[in-house]
Amino acid sequence: MFIAAVITVSDRCYRGERPDRAGPLVAELLKGAGYQVVQTAVVPDERSQIERVLRETADIGYVQLLVTTGGTGFSPRDVTPEATLAVCTRLAPGIPEAMRYASMQTTNRAMLSRAQAGIRHGTLIVNLPGSPKAAQENLEAVLPALAHGLEMLSGQPADCAAERSAES
Ligand code: MTE
Repeated sequence: MFIAAVITVSDRCYRGERPDRAGPLVAELLKGAGYQVVQTAVVPDERSQIERVLRETADIGYVQLLVTTGGTGFSPRDVTPEATLAVCTRLAPGIPEAMRYASMQTTNRAMLSRAQAGIRHGTLIVNLPGSPKAAQENLEAVLPALAHGLEMLSGQPADCAAERSAES
């Protein structure tokens, strides 16, 4: 079982003007996939606060997957990708590439998500868009492959070829 945390990035949810639906939905999807969700939080679209919660959550040491939802679009206050890049030491561009590729089959607005993914120490950070539907579609596009990456990240010996042949 992997340990996960979910951070909702939204001014309106933070101020209580809108219920946070995406964060709980993402947490439920992760639990359904066998993750233990140990932390959820809602932060405003403030780069310093997003960076702080990402750092603090990753630096706990045992959170393996940190998923954010919201703040990946083009509005001036959408800064989740920049905060994510600032705290990651290694990038994982294939994850947002796969999310956008899968989502483009549904809507060409998928290209408007600037979501990033990267690694800080032993934690994989993945951005999702903010609407519950978009968050779900993006997460489901990559979730089946994440476990293998998390195993490698935790230092477990991974035989990629053997696991690929077991898939087919
Ligand atoms: N991806 C999927 N699968 N489905 C969607 O409806 N919406 C897009 C995109 N990705 C969407 C999607 C839109 S309209 C935007 S603006 C971006 O995600 C960024 O969303 P965010 O600003 O809520 O993070």
